[in-house]
Amino acid sequence: MPSGDIGLIGLGVMGQNLALNMNDHGFAVVVHNRSRERMDRFLQGPAQGTEIIPADDLPTLCAALRRPRKLLLMVRAGDAVDQLLARLLPQLEPGDIVVDGGNSHFADSERRYHELAAHGIRFVGCGISGGEEGARRGPSVMPGGDVLAWPELRPLLQSIAAKVDGVPCCQWVGPGGAGHYVKMVHNGIEYADMQLISEAYHLMRVGLGMTPEQIKDTFLQWNRGALESYLIEITAHVLGQMDSNGVPLIDNILDAAKQKGTGKWTSISALELGAPLSLIDEAVFARYLSTRKEERQHAQTAYSLSSVAFSGDLHSAVAHLHDALYASKIIAYAQGFMLLREAAQAYRWTLSYRDIALTWRGGCIIRSRFLNNIGEAFANHPQLRNLLLDDYFVRQVSGAEPGWRQALRLAIELGIPVPAMAAGLSFFDSYRRGRLPANLIQAQRDYFGAHGYERIDRPRGEVHHSDWSRSGEPASGEE
Ligand code: 6PG
Repeated sequence: MPSGDIGLIGLGVMGQNLALNMNDHGFAVVVHNRSRERMDRFLQGPAQGTEIIPADDLPTLCAALRRPRKLLLMVRAGDAVDQLLARLLPQLEPGDIVVDGGNSHFADSERRYHELAAHGIRFVGCGISGGEEGARRGPSVMPGGDVLAWPELRPLLQSIAAKVDGVPCCQWVGPGGAGHYVKMVHNGIEYADMQLISEAYHLMRVGLGMTPEQIKDTFLQWNRGALESYLIEITAHVLGQMDSNGVPLIDNILDAAKQKGTGKWTSISALELGAPLSLIDEAVFARYLSTRKEERQHAQTAYSLSSVAFSGDLHSAVAHLHDALYASKIIAYAQGFMLLREAAQAYRWTLSYRDIALTWRGGCIIRSRFLNNIGEAFANHPQLRNLLLDDYFVRQVSGAEPGWRQALRLAIELGIPVPAMAAGLSFFDSYRRGRLPANLIQAQRDYFGAHGYERIDRPRGEVHHSDWSRSGEPASGEE
């Protein structure tokens, strides 16, 4: 009688740690890895003394699993998943469940869901966040796809997930590619959070002339308040690390940020769906610009840096920066949830924004105290159009606004780039303004292309056109 509860394929860092986590929670885990050597190293190393069972090949793995089979794929996103599915399919039976736990693109998960459904296989595209430590001790888990798989997977996924106040950071997201979509937006927000923290660090280090040690202490202090989060916490640790030559390690790290593409996917999706994700976009662009290291060095020689030195009160400058970081962070999350709303509409998903916030409270890279407030906002108003319209966030942003402006004024004066914080403030200034200069854009479009415009004194949808070559008076009136 097969006794395996779950088959895990792919023993990379995430796969190994999830296998150990599931084993700890009493599940009989059968593992397989294409390279036997890696599997042996795992079994003789971290998995020694556990109940984890190795399988030499896919038929052996599938034969060892209880029906309906549950399989968790932890292989590299992209072709590798399709190739594995093609080899796996002949070993499966209708009703079996395949979970892709990698960082797959949501459109691939949507396609795989349909392809496997045609064979009676229940497919789940499952975002998993938290890196190595999260996978081992409790990640944030975002499953979506075939909802009929959820009752079978729920005990397993919720038991291995992180818990906050006893609530598992794992809730069903929605059909098709919804799970991986939510993970993608998580990563877009992750890029934004990291960029914002880096801008704050840059302003303190270069603009205010603070040492890594002083900045570390500042982040530690901020981590005791509204900004409390995993990313602020690890930033403080990073800043406290010394290199072997006695210099803070951070000063010896090359300033060219890499990426695997999930932030870019978020921006692409936002452009396609018409969601103005300006802050998140800037975070993605900032990574691209950072990689042009030599070009930047040439530009620095061509232009020379600003000679304006900071001369104000350090304590208040740091306090303003705190507010700038906090307010910008709120904008980043507001934009992320805005995109989720657009996607839900475009793909006809029913998403629970409250559950998504609760899922991100623990285990994942963007985990923070602040996600409790987001969860509450959506619990109070499940159809809230934008976080910025929630009473709590109105108070928070209004309170931080003066400091936000002061910090950006200072950054501009000192020539310190703050693309994400500035994009956040511009977004805010646009969003909260009932009238924008788009009237002029409409007039220009009508001028050169006769594209027509709506009037503020006429019903929406009624199109007008002017003969601009004469006096700007309506040419033919209503169209
Ligand atoms: C997570 C992370 C993870 C991501 C890496 C690196 O939620 O655990 O988002 O999925 O792959 O952190 O991403 P980049 O290489 O794109 O920075």
